Amino acid sequence: MPRYRPFSLTHDPARPTARGVGLVRLFRGALLLLSALQWLASAPALQAQDAATPILTTVTPGSPGDTLTAPNVLENISSARGIVEVLLTASKTRMSLVPGAPAADVYAYNGSIPGPTLVVREGARVIVHFKNDLPEATTVHWHGVHLPADADGSPFDLVEPGHRRDYVFTFGKGTAGTYWYHPHPDMRSAYQVAMGLYGAIIVRAADDPLPASLPEKLLILSDNRFRSDGSLDFPNPDSPEGGVDGVNGREGNVIFVNGQVMPTIPIRAGEVQRWRVVNASGARVYRLAIGGQSFLHVGNDGGLFEKPIEVKEITVANSERVELLVRGSGTPGSRVTVQALPYDRYVPQTRPPDWDHPRDVLALKYSSDPPVRSIKLPSTLRVIPALDTTQVAATRVIVLSQGLINGRAMDMSRADITAHLWTTEIWEVENVVGMDHPFHLHGFQFQVLDHDGVPTTYRSWKDTVNVPKHQTVRIVVRFDDFPGRWMFHCHVLDHEDMGMMGVLLLK
Ligand code: C2O
Ligand code: CU
Ligand code: CU
Repeated sequence: MPRYRPFSLTHDPARPTARGVGLVRLFRGALLLLSALQWLASAPALQAQDAATPILTTVTPGSPGDTLTAPNVLENISSARGIVEVLLTASKTRMSLVPGAPAADVYAYNGSIPGPTLVVREGARVIVHFKNDLPEATTVHWHGVHLPADADGSPFDLVEPGHRRDYVFTFGKGTAGTYWYHPHPDMRSAYQVAMGLYGAIIVRAADDPLPASLPEKLLILSDNRFRSDGSLDFPNPDSPEGGVDGVNGREGNVIFVNGQVMPTIPIRAGEVQRWRVVNASGARVYRLAIGGQSFLHVGNDGGLFEKPIEVKEITVANSERVELLVRGSGTPGSRVTVQALPYDRYVPQTRPPDWDHPRDVLALKYSSDPPVRSIKLPSTLRVIPALDTTQVAATRVIVLSQGLINGRAMDMSRADITAHLWTTEIWEVENVVGMDHPFHLHGFQFQVLDHDGVPTTYRSWKDTVNVPKHQTVRIVVRFDDFPGRWMFHCHVLDHEDMGMMGVLLLK
């Protein structure tokens, strides 16, 4: 019996790859899975999925709801200087996630979805007293955080039901940014995150270059899918819908911001707001636009850039974060809808029929007050030293195919890569299939060098990079400290759960 469910789609043979090793295995897989593919194509999978979700029509477009609220902040129970000590419990509860819908069985951190936000300053030592009150094993993974391997909440460190675990780690200098936490048990991450387990982390710098007077908004994006009785819709993996979810990753038809549907952010004309956006969806990629107006992209996974970049849209793949400066350029009294524009990350066989429709995410509502005088924003934010690519200990090729990395499914007893502390490596992450795979490395922030040989135009710290269909992305990473076993994987959570993950042994 294979440990992981096989994928229903296979390597796309249309594009040849130089990596011969994986090819034999992939083509053998292609033959084995051909029947599954035909079955998928013929089954009325997507209609069935739509029919099961009448809630969609009652909650979605254009009906702006309540004002956006932020999740609670985790309370610091320590009075010691530089220590942030918090209590976090995961438990099963019942809650109505969509206004007016019946309550559903969900999982929540400290009883709320999203979970409370961990807010700390650079330099803080964090002690999380975690208790697992779920009916199943879990972990808490601190996504993007540079920490000791035993605090990472990886699948190696399960917390059984009823058990406790303390996570202890320190946010070093230069780590200010937006991160998040979520469960990471082997093969159960997609389910547990969709059930409600996700929360944000905000790390503040002592010397933040952006004016402290900017109103700040945290926007945790997620989506979910419901049956008509209000329960969360997780199709049987052997059903046509389950097969589609396995390929695409499970997407929901209701989009949430901080657990709210289509909330409103009040803004005054001329005002500049700082938005921290987290994509906590298992599979949905958000290509955000603010009614065609431009805004400043000032940071991503590992914090601020060197300089702001003016954009009209921003694509946030699974688990990525972005920081944006949004200027209220509308007229007093007006309203603008922030939308997720169509983004084609799919293979044609399972592309949702409505993938090319924009989706409303939230509304910006201008007060009727006259415009405020515009604030001056810094043109430089901080210095990000380039990692030295002339002294690399290894250059590795990481081939992403459908559900596999370098032709293999994850095996926790295997080290796929062995690397050494205090060295720098270049990883060429090559996506050989016709679907995007966001690639994530635990524990270390890296720099993206190029996409298909086209150099990145600005430097930043990343822990996840989307690798589009048939593209190769090169990253450089420095292993400074923290030996142990680290995961690298596709952050489409269903892919991760099916074994699209590997182990980096650092010694
Ligand atoms: Cu956000 Cu391995 O995870
Ligand atoms: Cu992670
Ligand atoms: Cu993937």
